[in-house]
Amino acid sequence: MNNNQVIIFDTTLRDGEQSPGASMTRSEKLQIARALERMNVDVIEAGFAMASPGDFEAVKAIAETVKASTVCSLSRALDADIDRAAEALKPAVSGRIHTFIATSPIHMKHKLRMEPDQVIAQAVHAVKRARNQIDDVEFSCEDAGRSELDFLCRIIEAAIDAGARTINIPDTVGYNLPHQFGKTINQLLQRIPNADKAVFSVHCHNDLGLAVANSLQAVVNGARQIECTINGLGERAGNASLEEIVMAIRTRNDLLNVETNIDTQLIVPTSRLVSGITGFPVQPNKAIVGANAFSHESGIHQDGVLKHRETYEIMRAEDVGWQNNKMVLGKLSGRSAFSNRLEELGVTFDSREALNEAFARFKTLADKKSEIFDADLLALVRAKSNDEMPDEYRLLHLEAGSSTEGTPEATVSLEINGITQIARSGGDGPVDAIFKAIESVVHSGATLALYSVNAITGGTDSQGEVGVRLTRDGKVVNGSAADTDIVIASAKAYINALNLLESDIVKAHPQVSEV
Ligand code: KIV
Ligand code: ZN
Repeated sequence: MNNNQVIIFDTTLRDGEQSPGASMTRSEKLQIARALERMNVDVIEAGFAMASPGDFEAVKAIAETVKASTVCSLSRALDADIDRAAEALKPAVSGRIHTFIATSPIHMKHKLRMEPDQVIAQAVHAVKRARNQIDDVEFSCEDAGRSELDFLCRIIEAAIDAGARTINIPDTVGYNLPHQFGKTINQLLQRIPNADKAVFSVHCHNDLGLAVANSLQAVVNGARQIECTINGLGERAGNASLEEIVMAIRTRNDLLNVETNIDTQLIVPTSRLVSGITGFPVQPNKAIVGANAFSHESGIHQDGVLKHRETYEIMRAEDVGWQNNKMVLGKLSGRSAFSNRLEELGVTFDSREALNEAFARFKTLADKKSEIFDADLLALVRAKSNDEMPDEYRLLHLEAGSSTEGTPEATVSLEINGITQIARSGGDGPVDAIFKAIESVVHSGATLALYSVNAITGGTDSQGEVGVRLTRDGKVVNGSAADTDIVIASAKAYINALNLLESDIVKAHPQVSEV
């Protein structure tokens, strides 16, 4: 491998999915995996095969589908996990098992309840077992950011001897500062005698907002793989964001002197796809993919940019895919223009029926909205990507009104397990009235934890994308929906969340389960 090349390892489908409520179905994961492959991501961590039968099937389906990227499954350093990962990865053109064990004193003592030497023995056993089944094995020292350097040197040397090709150094709890983390990488590379036999990787969490800075400092010190996620999705405050890493490497190539394979023009469409599927909106001022990331409000800035773009812009919006968000289709566009454009955006259909069904929804949208943008197309296919979700509740009809006088009222007609029910309620606003009306017949017992509305494109005919997060008995789900009418989108998003709440996905969490 060229030593200036940084391997981009995307873990949106594994660590990203560990965000509360970010669970994805198999077909949603497949859509994201295809988009990551199109973007030239080197390694896609498709999931944790042992977590549940659904996760196993998702990793397997991605291994069957993706050809150009390496497909990876996480596994604890346990025989059963490793075998399950290997089984799911069998169809992959290029597969990787990523096995890990905690190495910090606090994790070894309180979580694993193991002595350091036992941890090394288990790590070596796991790497060898994985290597017996697949060539490409990655080993991670969980909580490396709080581990002792001497111990890291010992366990990593042993893991490389056992056959690990990639050594990952996670800052699992996002505790490190950039200069400190960079020094750790530097020391490991200098002190471990067989360090040249493996690629060193980093995996930084964002608890102090330093995940990207720590990852870049690691690269400066010799790391050549970065683990990251689209939109920085991930446990707690998330992981290092792929788009920020890739654009920092590209924009400051003068200082960093490394490159990635990523097709940066696909960054914005992929960000939108992930945001829509997970129901996690992107904050407007988010670097690279936020709606305001390239907009100049101040007169002085606008004047400067018009005279010479580089006065205030260090990157070009079109280089990260913003220009792709142009008017692409309209009322008269045909099925093949529709499917071709979606294919260019990384979305393909599993069957002719799925394409026909999406095309019918496109025609309905085109009747309401004269200009259809890429973002509209992505929202449209997301709305029905969920073929594994139970359809217990369906919206049949809705009427809701706002008034400066009196109480807003809503009437909702719902199909609940095949039976039509009509509900009415007042509320603080039309959306509140709708949610109350729905609850008056559904009685879900859920708490509304988050409600968000985002305009997908500019203009008052833009589709509004609504996110609804519901919680019940520790379960968290994110429903989402888009419509040119945000009141209707709100009702659909609420119903989507209720359906997700009824799906009983039970998964093991890789980092909290007993070893
Ligand atoms: O944050 C972490 O330590 C992880 C490992 C499993 C790589 O996600
Ligand atoms: Zn992590």
